[in-house]
Amino acid sequence: MCGIIGYIGNRHVTPLLLEGLKRMEYRGYDSAGVAVMNGSGVETRKAAGKISQLERALVTSPVDGDMGIGHTRWATHGVPNECNAHPHVDCKGDIAVVHNGIIENSGTLKQGLQARGHRFVYLIEEAFDGNLEDAVIEALWQIEGTYGIAVVSSKDRNKIVAARKGSPLLIGLGDGEYYVASDVSAILAHTREVVYLDDGDVAILTREGYTVLNQRAQELERRVSKIDWDLDQIERGGFDHFMLKEIFEQPATVENCMRGRLLPDEGTSKLGGLNMTDEELLRFDNILITACGTSWHSALIGEHMLESLARVPVEVEYASELRYRNPIVTDKTLCIVISQSGETADTLAAMREAKARGARTYGIVNVVGSTIARESDGGIYVHAGPEIGVASTKAFTSQVIALLLFTLKLARLRTLSMVDGKAIIEEMQALPGKIQNILDRADEIEKIAEEFKNSQNFLYLGRGYSFPTALEGALKLKEISYIHAEGYPAAEMKHGPIALIDEKMPVVFITPHDSVFDKVVSNVQEVKARGGRVIAITTREEDALEGKLDYEFRIPETKDMLTPVLASVPLQLLAYYMAVKRGTNVDQPRNLAKSVTVE
Ligand code: AGP
Repeated sequence: MCGIIGYIGNRHVTPLLLEGLKRMEYRGYDSAGVAVMNGSGVETRKAAGKISQLERALVTSPVDGDMGIGHTRWATHGVPNECNAHPHVDCKGDIAVVHNGIIENSGTLKQGLQARGHRFVYLIEEAFDGNLEDAVIEALWQIEGTYGIAVVSSKDRNKIVAARKGSPLLIGLGDGEYYVASDVSAILAHTREVVYLDDGDVAILTREGYTVLNQRAQELERRVSKIDWDLDQIERGGFDHFMLKEIFEQPATVENCMRGRLLPDEGTSKLGGLNMTDEELLRFDNILITACGTSWHSALIGEHMLESLARVPVEVEYASELRYRNPIVTDKTLCIVISQSGETADTLAAMREAKARGARTYGIVNVVGSTIARESDGGIYVHAGPEIGVASTKAFTSQVIALLLFTLKLARLRTLSMVDGKAIIEEMQALPGKIQNILDRADEIEKIAEEFKNSQNFLYLGRGYSFPTALEGALKLKEISYIHAEGYPAAEMKHGPIALIDEKMPVVFITPHDSVFDKVVSNVQEVKARGGRVIAITTREEDALEGKLDYEFRIPETKDMLTPVLASVPLQLLAYYMAVKRGTNVDQPRNLAKSVTVE
C-alpha cells in the first residue's frame, strides 16, 4: 500500500509523476503529492483524497521541472489530510521525502527530534553534510521498521536516492533517464527494463546511470529484468471498471496458468520453478499453506485437493496468525505461500518464519519479481497478468489452478492413478470454455443484483469445496458493495446463523451436483422454512430443489475440485453488479488497498 514514483531525466516531470501515480492509485487513495526540482529548488504540491484532487491542485498552482518524486497514500498513522500527505519537506525546504511502510521507533525518534527543534521526517536533514546518499544511509541506521523511500535535495541536486526494507521498490532504466517506483505498472509506458531492489539496498539515480549500495555504502550488483506485460493489460480496454475487465479475462488467465504445465498423457503436471526433485517432494510429512484474504480462500481449496488426492496432512493458516503462534514447522514441512501481489507483509513474514524453522517454501504468486517470488525456495507464477481492481478475481481462480497443478504433481507421485490424473486434466482443459459460458450469461446475474441491491445483509453457504467459495463470495460482496455478508459452511448454519434468517435475508447457496449435494438440499429447506430468500448456484435441473429457489444460476458441471473456479465467477459478477447499482467505487473501495504491505 502507498505508491512511490520518482523520475530523473530531461522530460517534463509533473505529467510523468501524475501518470505513474494514477497507475498506482489502487495501492492507496487517501492523499497524494509531488515534489519537483526546478530553478527555485524543491517545490511540493499535495492534496487530500484521490489523484484527481492533486491534479486539480496542480492546475490551480502549476509546477514543473525535470526531476521529482511523488506519492499516493493509504493512511496507517495520521488522518488522510493534506498535512500528512507525502512528500514531506525539511525545515529549510531543501529536502523532500516520500515514504511507504511503518517506522516502528517513530515515537522515540520524534521526541528526540522535537527536542532539537525538528520533526521526525528530518532525520535526513540532520545527517546532511553535502552528500544526499550519505545522509540517507546515516538516517536509515536510526530507523526501525519497514520502509520504501525516495529522496531529493536542492543542495545535492541531479540525483534521487531511494532505499527499501520491507516495502517494494524498483528502478526503471531509460536512455538518459531513470525511474523509481513501487510497482512496475507506474513506469511500464516508458520502460520495460527494471532492477528490483532488495531489502537493505540504497539506490542512487542520476541522468548518467544508477548505483546500488548496501547500508555500509558498498556497491552491489543487481540483475536487470525484462518486463513482458503489455500496456493494454494495465488499462481498462473498454470496460467500465478494471474489476469487470479482470472477471472477463478469466477464460484466458486460467488458460495461461495451465499453459505448458499439463502432461495429459501422464496425468500429471510439469512445474518448472519447483526446484525440488521427486524424492525431495516425497520427503515432506505435512504441508502448511499460509496466505491472507482471498488468497487464504484459495488455500482452503488447496487443502481439500491435497488431502483428498495426495493424501498428505495439510494445515491452512492465516499468515497474520501464523507469525505470532509457535507453529509446529520442521524441515519435513513444505510451506506453500499464496499471494497475488507477492508483497503482503503478513504473508512475507509468515514465510520467513516458516523458513527460519526449517521448512521448504513454495510460492504461488502473480506479480513477477515480487519479494515472495524471490525469497521462496521454489514457486509458480499464476500468470494472471496485472490485477488492478482492489477486489481480487482472476488471481483467485488462477491460484486454484496453480494449487491443482501442484496437487497433481504430488498426488501422482503418491496415490493418484494415471487414469484419474488424466480425467482431471481433461476437465481442467475444458474450464476456459465453461467460464466463457458463464460470462456470456452475465445479464442473468445483473438481474439478480437489481432485485437484491438494497439488502443490508447476505449469507453465503456451501459445503465441501463450496465452503471456501462461499467465503470468497461473501468477501467480494462486502469489499466493494459495503453490504454485510457472511460465508458459512452450509451445515453449520443451524448452529447459530439460522437465527438471522427471515424474509429480509438473502441466502446464496453454492449447490453444484457434487458429493455433498443431497446434504445441502436439506439446508436449503431449512432456510426456506424460515422465510429466507434463496439464490442458488446450481449445475443442473434438480427435482430436490423444485420450488425451493427464488433465483437460480446454472454453471456447467465439472469435477468437484474445479467447481470453485466456476462457481466463483457468478459470485464475482453478483458483487460487481450490486456495487455498481449501489454507486460505490468498484475499483477503489473505501479504506482498502490492493496490497497490504504493513502489519
Ligand atoms: C481480495 O479481494 C482482497 N483485496 C484481499 O483480501 C487480498 O486477497 C489480501 O490482501 C491478500 O493479498 P495478496 O494475495 O496480494 O497477498
